[in-house]
Amino acid sequence: MNKAKIILVKNAEEIGGRAADIFADTMRKKPNCILGLATGSTPLPLYRELIARYRRGEMDFSGVHTVNLDEYLGLAPEDSQSYSHFMKTNLFDFVNIKKENILLLNGLAENVEKECRHYENTIEEWGGIDLQLIGIGHNGHIGFNEPSKEFIVETHLIKLAQDTRKMNSRLFNSESEVPRAAMTMGCGNIFAAKKILLLATGRNKSEILERALFGTVTPRVPASILQLHPDVTVIADADTGEKLKRHMLPN
Ligand code: F6R
Repeated sequence: MNKAKIILVKNAEEIGGRAADIFADTMRKKPNCILGLATGSTPLPLYRELIARYRRGEMDFSGVHTVNLDEYLGLAPEDSQSYSHFMKTNLFDFVNIKKENILLLNGLAENVEKECRHYENTIEEWGGIDLQLIGIGHNGHIGFNEPSKEFIVETHLIKLAQDTRKMNSRLFNSESEVPRAAMTMGCGNIFAAKKILLLATGRNKSEILERALFGTVTPRVPASILQLHPDVTVIADADTGEKLKRHMLPN
């Protein structure tokens, strides 16, 4: 039986609200917490809700530090397709987070290995991630840890899987524009977070979500490593979570 706390809600907006409650709780308990953030479509309702609560004076980001899961290789932080730009335009520009408290991978780093080590060392100096937000790829990836023969522990350079590039091409003019590589926190970095919050939306992810949470733990489904973490909360909409119901005990 998976130890994760699984919450099924009506829709993506409700996921945003429930996830924001978890962020608020973490920030209330530890105003100088380290938040691990994700990009993509899934966290957008959460970021909208965090901004709304900040505007209502319900949340304060002044002591918070943030780190992100990943970044495309070769894209400048100002590039509109970069994850730095995504975070700026979907969250950072609208809350009182201090610039010096934001850690992002630089897609233009000259020395990628050095950039990855600097990234991990900074996270460690800051005291480690308190709450790591993640989404799940259609192939079971977390961050950009693509299915492979082994779980890669550290922050590293990765060649993106063909299906990931195809899936992410919806945000580019064409598939050929999607970078072929990225830097990503490793499964070990994600696993080291004190608490992990996995959000999942869209019926086409229901099968991979079930395999990740209840199938064999294998690097072929990187998200399956979450089964071994002591504090994972999964929030999915009813469609995506449909296949999870048969594994869940009735309330
Ligand atoms: C994003 C990330 C990816 C996404 C995943 C799901 O920083 O690391 O693992 O979380 O690809 O993406 P969406 O939410 O767009 O379906």
